[in-house]
Amino acid sequence: MKKYEIAIIKGDGIGPEIVDEAKKVLDAISYSHGFELSYHDYLMGGIAVDRAGVPLPDETIEGCLRADAVLFGAIGGEKWDSLPRELRPESGLLKLRKSLEIFANLRPTVVYDELIEASTLKESVIKGVDILVVRELIGGIYFGEPKGREGDRAFNTMVYSVPEIERIAHVAFKAAMRRQKRVCSVDKANVLDVSQLWRETVTRIAKEYPEVELSHMYIDNAAMQLIRNPKQFDVILTGNLFGDILSDEASMLSGSIGLLPSASIGGKAALYEPIHGSAPDIAGQGIANPIATIASASMMLRHSLGEVEAADAIDKAIVKTLKEGYRTKDIAAFGAKEICTTDEMGSIIANYAAKKGE
Ligand code: IPM
Ligand code: MG
Repeated sequence: MKKYEIAIIKGDGIGPEIVDEAKKVLDAISYSHGFELSYHDYLMGGIAVDRAGVPLPDETIEGCLRADAVLFGAIGGEKWDSLPRELRPESGLLKLRKSLEIFANLRPTVVYDELIEASTLKESVIKGVDILVVRELIGGIYFGEPKGREGDRAFNTMVYSVPEIERIAHVAFKAAMRRQKRVCSVDKANVLDVSQLWRETVTRIAKEYPEVELSHMYIDNAAMQLIRNPKQFDVILTGNLFGDILSDEASMLSGSIGLLPSASIGGKAALYEPIHGSAPDIAGQGIANPIATIASASMMLRHSLGEVEAADAIDKAIVKTLKEGYRTKDIAAFGAKEICTTDEMGSIIANYAAKKGE
């Protein structure tokens, strides 16, 4: 029997609840599909600050490097907001991404037909939306030097080098080849030097993918177009900060940020996480939507472990669960047969996923 080792980082807020549901689904699916998963828990975020004094202990980095893949929940919370930047939970996540060299963050947005009503946008605008945001994850203004504070000034620097742009562009074009073969590169080339370099480099790399149609858009226009006519997009290629913003915006096409998974790849390990945060306001109440994390687990099976059938079964189980009318609170007003808790949602999806061939 094939065996895989998964590093688990539950984190803060709703992190532990949603990761437990993803593990439940993974256990059910591995049993029915004939492979074995072992899990090792590691600390990151506020809980790591509390228990180990730092937001990312070395042991966590080492554990992630040893594992076949990493499944992560969420980090952060008010409790740690007043700490100096390097001790904040977010710094742990940023350092982990950097340490694992995972430069490519894939954030797919699909609109489930069953949840079309859950979106604030009209059905005609969003029905059939299928967008992949390819976000550069370990460069740009998040990491650029110099940064800091000096007297009454504070500064960060947006930097990209040609090799950094080239490698993320390749990821986007390759992804487009498996999809509708369209890449829209988003920048601010009318204002920023770094965006001019971004645009020139992406245009040059595009020549290696003659079948893919490349367009360019300024970030402000892209933010508007994403709401005006999201179906014009297939793959959106963009830098770290713009990708952070656009992926949250794109999530609302699907109705809830609680639905969208992500994969961070390209480096020494692969990290799978929901795109949403730790939602401390609803933590511990059993109302968080575990679907984004369960869908992240499915991406992990598909992309890191090659267990494509199992991943398909999970994706189908999510759709079936929604079709049957099961809803967590965030998507509940819309066609709900029954409002489920986090735990019930996980169990229903696990049951459907494990029944092969359904
Ligand atoms: C995300 C989050 C993170 C980011 C934070 C928590 C550091 O917003 O994964 O989108 O900005 O990358
Ligand atoms: Mg974000």
